[in-house]
Amino acid sequence: LSSIEVDISSIQPGEGITVKWRGKPLFIRRRTPEEIKAAEGVNVAQLRDPQADKDRVQKPEWLVLIGVCTHLGCVPQGEKSSEPRGEYGGYYCPCHGSQYDTSGRIRKGPAPLNLAVPPYSFTSDTTVKVG
Ligand code: FES
Repeated sequence: LSSIEVDISSIQPGEGITVKWRGKPLFIRRRTPEEIKAAEGVNVAQLRDPQADKDRVQKPEWLVLIGVCTHLGCVPQGEKSSEPRGEYGGYYCPCHGSQYDTSGRIRKGPAPLNLAVPPYSFTSDTTVKVG
């Protein structure tokens, strides 16, 4: 399957789901107002992989990412609020400790790049098409 449609209607603010897309974990997370504010407030020039939050999301509330650490490919934790999210409130990679922020950008640890954003679009208010 090259593209999938995902129903996001039951995802609560602060929570996310993981689905499979092209053999990889895909994260879809509904951000809280605080998480959005944190992501937008970062000084982009200080980032290892400088990218503004607005260039990584289509709607501020929704973060859509490939859940593969850019260091050596482990699956970061943090998609569920019960998992560790690291110092920047986004994702924490248990393999070697990379930490990502609420935009999925690398902030600390060995990973060189931000979590990748796949091609996607909203086909309705409650449906995301990925791929
Ligand atoms: Fe994630 Fe090494 S694979 S920190």
